Amino acid sequence: MLNLAVLISGRGSNLQALQKNIESGILQGKAQIAVVLANKATAAGLTFAREHGLQTMVCPAEKDVLAGLAKQQIDLICLAGYMRLLSADFVNQYKGKLINIHPTLLPKYPGLHVHEKVLAAGEKESGCTVHYVDTGADTGQIIAQRKVPVLPDDTPETLAARVLEQEHVLYSQVILQIANAVSVL
Ligand code: GAR
Repeated sequence: MLNLAVLISGRGSNLQALQKNIESGILQGKAQIAVVLANKATAAGLTFAREHGLQTMVCPAEKDVLAGLAKQQIDLICLAGYMRLLSADFVNQYKGKLINIHPTLLPKYPGLHVHEKVLAAGEKESGCTVHYVDTGADTGQIIAQRKVPVLPDDTPETLAARVLEQEHVLYSQVILQIANAVSVL
């Protein structure tokens, strides 16, 4: 059973998808969320976490995140819409145990406002990526991706929604893959 820490900054739909798959989907018996950490108290995902009986912590600074994580037995840290860059010290401390989901087909379009950039570039497809976190912004080793078409009448919002649907599938698939790999070690 993988013990997860999920780090969020906002809405938390990826957190919700993970918890749903833990309660009644592919992650049942494979993973559990030990703690949800948010960098701001207003992160909407915290409400969901509390309603689902998950332990939550508000950690405005990185040192608070480190202190929060140190109190737990964590196997994997999942960044799920966590919009803060982590320091090299942090990344090195949790190397190989720190993953992120990003709403493009990395290495294309790291950073922010990505759907606008995909549309402006006239891309015919986009998607999402789960990758290990390194010291760059969205640059770490890619674990898996899922693709979606970009449609002629897409707006950033419609494209984001299509990609998000695939994020909700992909993140759990990757965590399952890691849980299965760990269980045979
Ligand atoms: C998701 O689309 C996620 O891929 C993105 O923020 C959104 C969070 O949504 N993350 C990044 O852009 C990180 N570089 P959520 O709060 O509903 O999960």
